Formats: sequence, structure tokens, C-alpha cells
Amino acid sequence: MTIKVSDNGNYVFGGVDTVELVKEYNTPLYVVSEEVINEKCKKIRDTFLYKYDNVKAAYASKAFLNLAMCKIVEREGLCLDVVSGGELYTAICAGFPMEKIFFHGNNKSIDELELAISKDVGRIVVDNLYELKLVNDIGKKMEKKPKVLYRVSPGVDSKTHKYVVTGQKDSKFGIPIVEDKIFEAIKIGMEYENVEVLGLHFHVGSQIFDNESHIKAVDKVMGIIKTAKESLGFVTRELNTGGGYGIYYTEDDTPKPLSYFTDSIMETVYQKCREFELSVPTVIIEPGRWIIGEAGITLYTIGSIKEIPGIRTYAAVDGGLPDNPRPALYGSKYDAVVANKADEDAVQTVTIAGKCCESGDILIWDLKVPEIEPGDILAVRSTGAYNYSMASNYNKLPRPAVVLVNEGRAEVIVQRETYEDLVGRYHIPEHLR
Ligand code: LLP
Repeated sequence: MTIKVSDNGNYVFGGVDTVELVKEYNTPLYVVSEEVINEKCKKIRDTFLYKYDNVKAAYASKAFLNLAMCKIVEREGLCLDVVSGGELYTAICAGFPMEKIFFHGNNKSIDELELAISKDVGRIVVDNLYELKLVNDIGKKMEKKPKVLYRVSPGVDSKTHKYVVTGQKDSKFGIPIVEDKIFEAIKIGMEYENVEVLGLHFHVGSQIFDNESHIKAVDKVMGIIKTAKESLGFVTRELNTGGGYGIYYTEDDTPKPLSYFTDSIMETVYQKCREFELSVPTVIIEPGRWIIGEAGITLYTIGSIKEIPGIRTYAAVDGGLPDNPRPALYGSKYDAVVANKADEDAVQTVTIAGKCCESGDILIWDLKVPEIEPGDILAVRSTGAYNYSMASNYNKLPRPAVVLVNEGRAEVIVQRETYEDLVGRYHIPEHLR
């Protein structure tokens, strides 16, 4: 991947000199490029929304969510996937149109469902029969008829990390498609008076490069749609095909264009509808990482540098596992540049260690870098998805700020946490005072 470098050799991201950003906002710092998000959303519009009739795209907000992001998603004409009361509440606070929300989750609480139903969210993606009954009961109590999709577990495996495959038979998500379970659910949904079942949803997994599992899942689900129509008279009006499209982290990754996935999904839907003589449902896609992943970088300051002769050199940064748990959780790989030496040639290999009390807190193994010294700025790339959103306060590290950059402008969209924030909600019981 090529990068932009300023005349004085600094890494430029979103039109902004990253070293200047650090002077202003300190490190660790998440930086998100509005331009990259806009480009991704435009791609979705040009190659999917404008190309096909009757399709929708939702941004999977679990990848990165805050008020500014909701505003961007709304402006770009996308729907929003939320998976908890907290994500839904964020969207409510941002004034996001409720009818454009898909509410997911395998164990939504009664409170969460009541909030969603009282706000008339667009679709509740029901994961199981227990939830379906809750939705119907709450609908009755509130004199509403929530629109519902069923999450099905299509029984396909995807080539990705086992922690992020979700479409396999043995999965905690969705109604299995074995032993007529899904048809029983459809029948019950048709009988309930306070739910309107519109269709089906699946999500096969995340960071996937091959379209095979999406195609297989569409194929299987179209079979269900056919049988549901023939045996129950149920007409599927919507088919939500989830997200999962892979992005570039390092040169090992070979992401395909969005259309590689979306065209093959649409071709399979059209072909199966022709074959089974079905009307074509509204097709929805739900990418998260694909929209935001490459739009983000994280800036760190390098501190201690330790050489173990003949073994390895560790360069430690002022963040790590709490702001990016993905290397420790999934063995995820990242690439990085030394932001204040972006024009210098690599002369050595170092391992980038985080500052947590965990041997597993290594952000990047064997990164090629120029001569480095304490105080240098490291920019880890493609950190937009599932970094800020999965961040913790482990070792009582305050979460970094998030700065939105565009055409040379930088604005804080999430404030840096303070030590006061860390202790602000603690209480000392009387007997310990
Ligand atoms: N739709 C549903 C129902 C999902 O569960 C997900 C992700 C998505 C869409 C968006 O998937 P994406 O396009 O972002 O791959 N923490 C993991 C990823 C977990 C994904 C969970 N579900 C990671 O850091 O890789």
C-alpha cells in the first residue's frame, strides 16, 4: 500500500500531517479518515445500491460507533445494524432514522427489546423462538406490530479465523436449518398477531476473502424460501445477507472488490428466484469492517527499545492490547510506519510490544523499520474496525481519543478518557471509609 509523505518526511493521513496531530492530541490516538469512509460508501452506492433494484446496505456499527459515525452513515444513505441497547441508544442520541435500523443479537434483553419496539426500529432480527415470543408479547403490550427477520444459521463454513465464523451448523447464532426448525419458527411467526415476519437473515463470518460461503449460504437459504412458500404459503420479502468482506491489513491480504461479493450474491438470488419461480426479495448487505477498517490508523509514541542480542529487538509503545485486542485475540496481523521517518528506508526488524502486563500484548511481530529511537511516532494502519469498539481499560489505561480527519482538517469525535473517568463511577462502602 502506498502512503503519502510530507516534504519533511512525515506520514500524511486524510490530508493531515500525523506528527502534527500528535503534537496537538497526544498518543495513543485513533485517527479516522472521513474521505476513506466516503469513498467506501460511494462504492457501495455505485456498485450495489444504484446497480440493483430493491436493495439496501446497512453499516454494521459494532465495528466502530459514536455519534459522528452515525451522522456520516445517515448522510451516506446507509441503514444501521445495531446489536445491543447501547448501540441502539447511540443511534437514538444521534437522531438516526429509526426505520433504517436492523436490531441484531442472540440474546436481546426485555429492556433492549422494549426500547427498540417503543422506538419503532425498522427490523428486529430475531435469533430464536424465545425472542420471537418476547417480541410478540411486547408488541401486544405496546399495541405495535414490529417487523421481524429471522436469523438463520445456514450451516456453511467460511475460510477465516474460527472465532469469527458464524454461519456453521454448530453456532450460537440463529435458528438452525436442520430438522424443520426454521419452518416451525416461520409457522409460529405467521400465527402471532403482533409480529410481521418479513424474511430471513444470515451472516457467515468476518474478514473473508472468498465469496464461496456467501454463495453457498444464499443457495441454502433460497431453498428454505422456496419450501416455506410451497409448504406454508410464506412469502419472503427480505433477505439480509450479512457482511464479512475482507480488507487489507498487511501484504498477506488480498481483498477482492466489493462487487466480487455483491454481484455473486445477487446473481445467485436472481438465478434461484428464476429456477423456483419466486419474486425477488429485497436484498440487504451489512458490511462493517469493509467500510471503516482501512479508514483508521492508531498513532503511538515509541518508548523503551530493548535488544536481546541474537534474538530480537522489542520496541514498546504507549498503548497495545487495551486499544487493540485483535492481535492477542485472533492473532491478527498489522502493518505500521514510523510516522516521523516515513521517507526513510527500513534498516532493521523490530517487534512492537504493547505496554500491558501480558506477554501476549504484542501488536506486530517482525516489523521492518528505519533507525528508531524513543519519542518516534508509530502509525499502525487499518485499525478502524473493531479497535476503538473493542477497547478496554485493562491495566487502567484510559481509552484514546478519536480524531476525524478530512482534507487537512482534524476534529475530535471522541474525547480521550481521563484518570477521573477511570475512577468516577467507583464507590467506597461506608464500612471501608
Ligand atoms: N452483520 C452481523 C449480523 C454481524 O454479526 C457482523 C459482525 C457484521 C454484519 C459485520 O461483519 P464485518 O463486515 O465487519 O466483517 N471482532 C471481530 C469481528 C466480529 C464480527 C462480528 N459480527 C474482529 O475484530 O475481527
